[in-house]
Amino acid sequence: MKARIVFLPGDGIGPEVLDEARLVLNEIERAFGHSFEIVEGEIGVRAITNSGDPLPDTTRDLCMSGDAVMLGAVGGPTGTSYNGRRPEAGLLDLRTLLGNYANLRPVVAPEALAGHSPLRPELIRGVDLLVVRELLGGIYFGKPSDTIDGVARDTEVYSEHEVRRIAVTAFTTARLRRKKVTSVDKANVLESSRMWREVTTEVGKEYPDVELEHQLVDSCAMLLITQPTRYDVMVMENTFGDILSDEAAVLAASLGMLPSASLAGLPGNDSKGKPRKVRGLYEPSHGTAPDIVGTGKANPIGTILSAAFMLQYSFGLVEEANAVNAAVNGVIEAGHRTADIAARGAGFSTTDHLTDLILDRL
Ligand code: IPM
Ligand code: MG
Repeated sequence: MKARIVFLPGDGIGPEVLDEARLVLNEIERAFGHSFEIVEGEIGVRAITNSGDPLPDTTRDLCMSGDAVMLGAVGGPTGTSYNGRRPEAGLLDLRTLLGNYANLRPVVAPEALAGHSPLRPELIRGVDLLVVRELLGGIYFGKPSDTIDGVARDTEVYSEHEVRRIAVTAFTTARLRRKKVTSVDKANVLESSRMWREVTTEVGKEYPDVELEHQLVDSCAMLLITQPTRYDVMVMENTFGDILSDEAAVLAASLGMLPSASLAGLPGNDSKGKPRKVRGLYEPSHGTAPDIVGTGKANPIGTILSAAFMLQYSFGLVEEANAVNAAVNGVIEAGHRTADIAARGAGFSTTDHLTDLILDRL
């Protein structure tokens, strides 16, 4: 197949990890006879510096011209604003532009890395969960959002339609997994959460084979870290998802290992059993990590697994995605480690070297 992929390297270690994803995609092209055209655009601090805008029009046009977008990371090492603009606003605008309402963040604790989490190995053994985060609503986007006369406000807003479509994503993906959905809310306090609970319950009736439980976000935050294996698919609004997905990342050995996909539609197969091709934005779950830029310590795995997500969800290339996942698992099982997952005092593979090992297996 032919595809046009837009690369937005962004800031910090973003460019370093995207370079490695490019090598993996080149290898997939060669091995499976595909043709990927990779074009690059600017976002974040770099874009503000060069054009005064965290998501310039040229980048918007480029993203709309592509079949999928891969992002490195966005944000600056100091402060929250550059020339009066916030780099993160570029990412939020991009999500809106692409219509990426469904953010999928899987968290798996690989057996070979069980000793690397700050949590006891017996606690995290077998963790395999998927955070389904609503990405275009809630206080991230609700209006009014302003400060007037010393009073600042943000607004939590959800329509039934927005809740329904993310609930459908959760139930559909749960069907392909262990068939359990935990819907997270704050229904004992928030009106928007009470509606969220009603709508997810209603959608759940269309999936009688999938178990649905509701949890309040505060106790969920505790159970997630004390009984993580009880979770399969967890669905929640934007801000709860932002917070709990970082908490869940601790269950895996390192944030550097975790991919994410932000989708504008439902993943899975169509009625003819063919994989649907969904417009998506793919990025590692980690941030810009300014402290390790240029040191060879960045873990490329989160980004490489995000590329596998893209192959599967946006291009319907399931075999190719599986090949990438298998190559990554093989390298970890063979004992190779980047700096973030190396044993204390032990040597580690640099970003480039680890990617080479993955390419060898591919
Ligand atoms: C994330 C990040 C972003 C978010 C920031 C960079 C705007 O924390 O993807 O989780 O809050 O959504
Ligand atoms: Mg976050």
